Amino acid sequence: MTPRLSGVIGWPVGHSRSPALHGHWLQRHGIAGAYIALPVRPEHLEQALRALPILGFAGCNVTVPHKEAAFRLVDHVDASAARLGAVNTILVRPDGTLEGRNTDGEGFLKHLQASAPGWVPTDRPVLVLGAGGAARAIAGALADIGVPEIRVANRTDARAEALAREFGPPLKPWAWDRRDDGLAGCGLVVNTTQLGMNGYPALALALDRLPSDGVVSDIVYSPLETALLADARCRGLVAVDGLGMLLHQARAGFAAWFGVEPEVDEPLRRAVLGSPAP
Ligand code: ATR
Repeated sequence: MTPRLSGVIGWPVGHSRSPALHGHWLQRHGIAGAYIALPVRPEHLEQALRALPILGFAGCNVTVPHKEAAFRLVDHVDASAARLGAVNTILVRPDGTLEGRNTDGEGFLKHLQASAPGWVPTDRPVLVLGAGGAARAIAGALADIGVPEIRVANRTDARAEALAREFGPPLKPWAWDRRDDGLAGCGLVVNTTQLGMNGYPALALALDRLPSDGVVSDIVYSPLETALLADARCRGLVAVDGLGMLLHQARAGFAAWFGVEPEVDEPLRRAVLGSPAP
């Protein structure tokens, strides 16, 4: 039988944890397949994507800086990709055309619901910090499940305003300088900025303003325990790390390419954390 093939296209892509992630699942399920890092320069992206069916690939993941360009190049997109204008997962259809999906929002929600089962989406506002691609995916997913108010605060306020205008209610722009006030009455705060990542300053946030049963989520996973999450844990708040989002967003692609619904569990986390650091 011909092995099933997939991989991750990015530039650069050597830092990606996805080969370790999918490699673990392939091995665990005894699948005759391979998932490899595919470094592709921006000027070669179209040729690379068009080659996928010819080379026998079942599809691929797409990462920085290609997510928006891939959205424009694929033949079909699902509703999540259409809303975000970005694709992170591609499937080769039987007729050789390419279908683009975006599983980032779904990955975030699955991980949040598994890690903070007591969080009720429809209860209270959420504060989202950042207004980039990750914030779009997360705010969109939160709006879909009925969060009544999503306060978006971003260093460049105009970007938060543009995002809130584009998506409409329940998104609402919130001034970056007043982000501490934005915690009042919230059930959840999500950091989607790079603050707290290795090499960046920590995110300054007055968590004492969050209700005592609030949830603190960080999409940064290098380090796994950011200063924000450590602060949350010290205060007895539920802290949700960023690795789970990466693991959960990968499930739909794996299932589509290799035909098995994989699990997100501790052995997978260990395998991914043991892979080279970004
Ligand atoms: P992604 O697609 O991963 O969300 P992005 O579009 O580059 O990445 O967005 C990065 C986010 O981190 C942005 O919200 C950015 O704020 P700006 O829009 O003002 O650039 C935020 N960010 C990056 N460095 C930051 C810093 N030092 N302080 C505050 N926010 C920062």
